[in-house]
Amino acid sequence: DKGNHRHFMAKEIYEQPEVVGRTLAHYLDMSAGRVALPFDLPVDAARLSRLTICGCGTAYIAGLMAKYWFERFALLPVDVEIASEFRYRDPPLDAGGLTILVSQSGETADTLAALRCAKAKGQKVLSIVNVASSTMARESDVVAPTLAGPEIGVASTKAFTCQLAVFAALALAIGRARGAIDGETEARLVSDLMAIPGLMAQALKCESAVEALARDIAKVRDVLYLGRGTSYPLALEGALKLKEISYIHAEGYAAGELKHGPIALVDGDMPVIVIAPTDAVIEKTVSNMQEVAARGGRLILIGDEALSHDFAGEAAASIVMPNVAPDFAALIYAVPIQLIAYHTAVVMGKDADQPRNLAKSVTVE
Ligand code: M6R
Repeated sequence: DKGNHRHFMAKEIYEQPEVVGRTLAHYLDMSAGRVALPFDLPVDAARLSRLTICGCGTAYIAGLMAKYWFERFALLPVDVEIASEFRYRDPPLDAGGLTILVSQSGETADTLAALRCAKAKGQKVLSIVNVASSTMARESDVVAPTLAGPEIGVASTKAFTCQLAVFAALALAIGRARGAIDGETEARLVSDLMAIPGLMAQALKCESAVEALARDIAKVRDVLYLGRGTSYPLALEGALKLKEISYIHAEGYAAGELKHGPIALVDGDMPVIVIAPTDAVIEKTVSNMQEVAARGGRLILIGDEALSHDFAGEAAASIVMPNVAPDFAALIYAVPIQLIAYHTAVVMGKDADQPRNLAKSVTVE
């Protein structure tokens, strides 16, 4: 049932405040201001020397984002791996270490093979899955569920943000176990997480601005997404989402890489969508935006009110986001990223729920 929406994808984008809230409530003790995992970790987190994360597509991108959190809050080195590469590479892994698999369906062939590969090397395996009865859930030492509910649209939306919610909670829990964050920091970050569902609901109000933008994007051949820090994986996610449902070629880049190649593409036609929450690296992102503007590029900004005000003269369009605490801003900024892809596909008359050549669950290698 699509409710009042034209597509499951739209419905699932709109469900995010609720399902992310539900998922967070499963992992946080909100009244105590602490993380409270609903399971015991299968390893002694204090003794871990590294963490491996594996997935495909959007689930892999969630893992890329989690790396920033595990490093920052748990001081834990992280390898994030595309499952189809990991499984054939024979990676050296310590017996007794931890591998986290991420998958909406819990059935993706390459991720399942990566799980079995990690297990065969003596790793403990934790899977973040949305389908609790899936093969990956059954074969894991510990299951960390995302409570997104069934995701029907082929393009992953609410499963992605729920994966991020679980990863954020895990990073804080492991950080506490390793003595990397104190109680006060944990309480502040938990309160930042608790604010997310309400901020996601506010972010959804950008929809009419996104619809206007989508009419322009629908006419182009290529789109570049840029971001730094956790906005870098979000740039990859924006590009993946756009190409999979609108068939427009898109690439996501770390903003600092602009000058190492993609700046050659900048012209008056190609939209350059910059994901720019106010965070520790915003000034660096701003200088990348200026580089694009100085070359006559078509700058599209996703940022807060202050930033869009500063770039009013230079940006071709701005999508304004509420002010958010920097560490988990990506969960809020995911909303316009998803809406841009969705509305562009709709304007172009594409079926956003059933893109050509793609299956919801990829059970072949
Ligand atoms: O079910 P999974 O999360 O394991 O699926 C992984 C990818 O196939 C999936 O995320 C795919 O990239 C999506 N269609 C992206 O929107």
